[in-house]
Amino acid sequence: MIEIINLKKVYSGSSGDILAFEDINLNIEKGQIFGIIGPSGAGKSSLIRCLNLLEDPTEGQVIVDGIDLTTLPVQKLREERKSMGMIFQRFNLLKSRTVASNVAFPMEIKAKKKSEIKERVKELLKLVGLEDKADNYPSQLSGGQQQRVGIARALANNPKVLLCDESTSALDPETTHSILDLLKKINEELGITILLITHEMEVIKEICTKVAVLDKGRIVEQGDVVQIFSNPQNPTTRKFIERVVNANIPDELLARGIDLDINDGSLVRVSFVGVAASKPIISSLIHQYSLDANILYGNIDKIQGISFGTLIIELTGDKEQVSKGIKYLSSKEGVRVEVLNDGRNN
Ligand SMILES: Nc1ncnc2c1ncn2[C@@H]1O[C@H](COP(=O)(O)OP(=O)(O)OP(=O)(O)O)[C@@H](O)[C@H]1O
Ligand SMILES: [Mg+2]
Repeated sequence: MIEIINLKKVYSGSSGDILAFEDINLNIEKGQIFGIIGPSGAGKSSLIRCLNLLEDPTEGQVIVDGIDLTTLPVQKLREERKSMGMIFQRFNLLKSRTVASNVAFPMEIKAKKKSEIKERVKELLKLVGLEDKADNYPSQLSGGQQQRVGIARALANNPKVLLCDESTSALDPETTHSILDLLKKINEELGITILLITHEMEVIKEICTKVAVLDKGRIVEQGDVVQIFSNPQNPTTRKFIERVVNANIPDELLARGIDLDINDGSLVRVSFVGVAASKPIISSLIHQYSLDANILYGNIDKIQGISFGTLIIELTGDKEQVSKGIKYLSSKEGVRVEVLNDGRNN
């Protein structure tokens, strides 16, 4: 549905060129909720603005439903752009217009009939749960309500795609949750493809099916959210995931790991995904290899209905049996093992 090919953006200024991003290749399929995550300054906003050509890419192509937007004449581009709705971090509502009038605005620009606009505004406000706020002004609404207006406005002209630039970053966790629920409903019920950019892995975890990690203007990793969460390869991805999966080793454990004599035991972090999380793997490990397992930390979480578990365990017993046991664990499908104190002792 959206194909991004070798996209690059360089800003030219008086003090020289600034590379925002380069070598961006992404394929976003119809109906997906695709997330792009990256630290501040990674190039996320620049990238999303280049997708609807609010900003001209320096190189590359943006193909939406087979049409290359980068080659379209201005008038045609204006038409095509309407197939993409956009919502913003700071909502960008018109302060002097009421809620209903903000939502009506994109349709007024398209010179739609008054009666048609009125009907559609009503429908959209119902969809976002703000029927009773039609005559209020943005300043009379909470942040979450303002973002709902932003979403209704973005949907006014029946877009195929919704682009979201940090659309929950200005909101508290509970409101974030309700806005993400609304986006999910829009995706499922209206079949609208959603591309969102964020610096919060929580957002990706909650609603995205696919994710790409942008770091210093380049995609460093991309794939299914479940797959990336269970086996992140890039250090930036790991940092983001550790923050949400809570798999950071507590400091005192880390200290203990360094103190441990490798002959006495191994400190391992075991990550489980899917069915593995519900199988008694640890108990069979203990029995088969005559080991003791001291569980020092445990956490279980769900991502899109799939269980994720993290355990930090200290395995003690015969050294050879410990290493066989670790191999056994690693061989299980959906299980990843990291030895935390190995190497630090040597
Ligand atoms: N209009 C502009 N002119 C010149 N440089 C720009 C412009 N917009 C962004 N940049 C630069 O491009 C780089 C990427 O910025 P961008 O705003 O895309 O990052 P971001 O990932 O959205 O960051 P944040 O998470 O802080 O919003 C930065 O170095 C920034 O200074
Ligand atoms: Mg930004």
